[in-house]
Amino acid sequence: MKVFIETYGCQMNVYDSGLVMSILKKDGWMQAERLEDADLILINTCSIRENAEQRVFGRLDVCLQQKKQREGLIVAVLGCMAQRMKDKLLEHPAVDLVVGPDSYRRMPALIAGAITGEPVLETTLSHTETYADMEPVRDDNGVTTFVSIMRGCNNMCSYCIVPYVRGPERSRDPESIIRECRNAFEAGYREVTLLGQNVDSYYWTSDEGPDSDMTFARLLEEVAQISPLLRVRFSTSHPKDMSNAVLYSMALYPNICTHIHLPVQSGSDVMLEKMNRKYDRARYMDRIQKIREIVPDCSVTTDVIAGFCSESLEDHNQTLDLLREVRFDSAFMFQYSMRPGTRAHRRFVDDVPEKEKTRRLSEIIDLQTAISLERNREHIGKSFEVLIEGVSKKNKDELFGRTSGNKVCVFPAQGHRKGEYVKVTVDSCTSATLIGHISE
Ligand code: 5AD
Ligand code: SF4
Repeated sequence: MKVFIETYGCQMNVYDSGLVMSILKKDGWMQAERLEDADLILINTCSIRENAEQRVFGRLDVCLQQKKQREGLIVAVLGCMAQRMKDKLLEHPAVDLVVGPDSYRRMPALIAGAITGEPVLETTLSHTETYADMEPVRDDNGVTTFVSIMRGCNNMCSYCIVPYVRGPERSRDPESIIRECRNAFEAGYREVTLLGQNVDSYYWTSDEGPDSDMTFARLLEEVAQISPLLRVRFSTSHPKDMSNAVLYSMALYPNICTHIHLPVQSGSDVMLEKMNRKYDRARYMDRIQKIREIVPDCSVTTDVIAGFCSESLEDHNQTLDLLREVRFDSAFMFQYSMRPGTRAHRRFVDDVPEKEKTRRLSEIIDLQTAISLERNREHIGKSFEVLIEGVSKKNKDELFGRTSGNKVCVFPAQGHRKGEYVKVTVDSCTSATLIGHISE
């Protein structure tokens, strides 16, 4: 029997899809390369914005067509949408099985239930499940990969669905994290990204007393000690929790990459308060200053939301102003999408017209694109260590990889291969890519 899995959303979902594959492979399933060849189709879903959910409904319609042609085909919805919509998803004629993110261990039994024709729903959230004893099937470039260090989220940002669909925050046993990172290194990987909704609040209480407790800064160092040839990244940091200790660890270990993704969401204190972010602009700027003081040349990237509830033009202008002040290397920029079930949905009115949200978003994107270009131009003429990730999509004689600061870099192959470190001198750039040549 063959299973096909399709993944939407964040890196955590990519990781989870790997866990599900690992559970199913142990149960005797083979992986199908194409949806058309599968006896079981899994769709691992995202609820972060409405358009993410709409895409999944589009895919479910494709699954329904398949079902009409092939008897016995089973379709399961996993992940955040499964958790959010629960039995409502079973109303879609394509869906046989709905499984939330904390119930993947039960997949073999649940699939067996679905095969008997019963609609199956399992969306219990857990305070303890971290899948610590498992490692995912890794379906990536063989060079860079993700390792989950925690699950869930306790930060009730008012716009955000994640705490409701991913459950409460829990940290994973550090030994299992370090083991997984070491195994990845021994399998040939040269970069691990430690994943969590808020990595700064990682905490593991040791049986041997508080001195042996594991903080995120210590965990980073332990992973960095696996090998100087293993790069370590992490995502996502939270401005309210990001400690100087993490910055000192970054400064101490050359293989901890000099990049921090520090979502700001808005430049306006009024909006930050309404978003329940628990920091203000001054605190955010203090974090930026500390990053630049302790880890000079550290890349900083961010997330921004345009058109949150009651956002005025003045609030919006403050976001633009913050982008100019910080000069982020790049940003993920979104237009606000009201999510049912969130605090904003209960308390606030989604009153910025869609057209105006779009206008504000494009203003933000235009400004940030210009800043990203300026930032990249500062790299021209300089040399960077690049970990090669593969062959460039546009030109098979060129390779691509990333700098420690997470900038994508393209350059002629000159006999080198993925998984190698090379020194690249930058000759030119776009707002998204550095273009150069191997200089060592
Ligand atoms: N609407 C728009 N963007 C959102 N994000 C989270 N929730 C929403 C929402 N309801 C953005 C935030 C977050 C990123 C992962 O997605 O910027 O940091
Ligand atoms: Fe990831 Fe959030 Fe989307 Fe869930 S809702 S897949 S946690 S981005």
